[in-house]
Amino acid sequence: MQDALVLSARPGIISFSLGLPSPDLFPVEQFTLACEKILGRGSSVLQYAPPSELLKSHIVSLMRHRGVECRESQIFLTSGAQQAVNLVVAVLLDSGRQIIAEELCYPGFRQIVEFYRPEVLTVPTDPSTGMDVDKVEWYLESGAKPVFVYAITEGHNPLGVSLSEEKRRKLLTLSENFDVPIIEEDPYGFLTYEPSQIRLPMRSQRADNVFYVGSFSKILAPSLRVGWLIVPEELTRHLAVLKETVDIDMSTFSQHVVAHMLDSGFLVEHLKRLRAEYTCRRDVMVKVLSKRFPSDSRWSVPDSGVFIWVRMPEKFDTKKLLTVAVDRHQVAYMPGSIFRVGSSGGDSPSSLRLNFSHPSVSCIDEGMSRLGDLFCSSANALACAE
Ligand SMILES: Cc1ncc(COP(=O)(O)O)c(C=O)c1O
Repeated sequence: MQDALVLSARPGIISFSLGLPSPDLFPVEQFTLACEKILGRGSSVLQYAPPSELLKSHIVSLMRHRGVECRESQIFLTSGAQQAVNLVVAVLLDSGRQIIAEELCYPGFRQIVEFYRPEVLTVPTDPSTGMDVDKVEWYLESGAKPVFVYAITEGHNPLGVSLSEEKRRKLLTLSENFDVPIIEEDPYGFLTYEPSQIRLPMRSQRADNVFYVGSFSKILAPSLRVGWLIVPEELTRHLAVLKETVDIDMSTFSQHVVAHMLDSGFLVEHLKRLRAEYTCRRDVMVKVLSKRFPSDSRWSVPDSGVFIWVRMPEKFDTKKLLTVAVDRHQVAYMPGSIFRVGSSGGDSPSSLRLNFSHPSVSCIDEGMSRLGDLFCSSANALACAE
């Protein structure tokens, strides 16, 4: 991910690699006002300090809008979603135990769990309904004893799909019947694009077995490093002790900035703006995919998140083609194989993940046309070689 970050910052490169928010949509003016206001109150925001109760109460209200009822005492503030997952995994997982995750997974999660060398029981993902919950059931009924199931319910990274309501219900039932907690990671939950398709997080249905992970990275700014967990109250002390080993407090300043911005009530309008702009960027990407990519490439249009997963014909090797894309066409993307957990993940070597939130509409148009030309000429070359 760090390599991709360096690559996407290279001058002249149009990058579809990482899930970065659009720099044009950062609410810079609101940030400036918030900083002036909180520094105007004195220097205490620059000090070590306990987690902000005001921010917790804003998160409680924010989650209520998504159908999740929780209390301030169940909110545990973290330095981003990545740290939140890291901590909750540390609480649940011991070396060598089993976990359930999808065959194609967010690499940040894989990096966290690798440390514990777990036995990862993988399940495939359907491009339109999400995780194969029947396979989860099969594992559990066959006697597997996973310590958790990891799920990204909205705008899956890397596949872009959201878990269907039916599957959410079934997964919750399995979690209860077999007493297996779910880590519900939801950094894209506020970025939904079809108002008729609003789905509630699993945490809204059954509180105790779902460890919910949220973040302000994609909806305000990732440099704030503010995320949160919703967990049973009795766990927060344990989490605090664990967190202290790597991170004394979290940024007091960021917490106050976010709390102040939420006080002002501007987030509602800001989210509308993000959703409208990202819908537009997604649609441009889909239009160029349809027009310029080989006719046998396949994708689904995501109704949340920031990624489109494209399946190219099997003969394509998207990892090899990336070098050509970058060196000759100045375009970058994420090859599908890097999201594989173990040896599963079927057609991922011929697939790619594309991000549509970071590049502007004109960059999407230009970069996707260049990629389409590259893939069409590669398809021709492969056909001639056969
Ligand atoms: C699934 C997932 N989790 C976590 C993160 C990182 O979030 P944060 O910046 O809140 O740590 C990302 C960012 O791309 C993500 O896609």
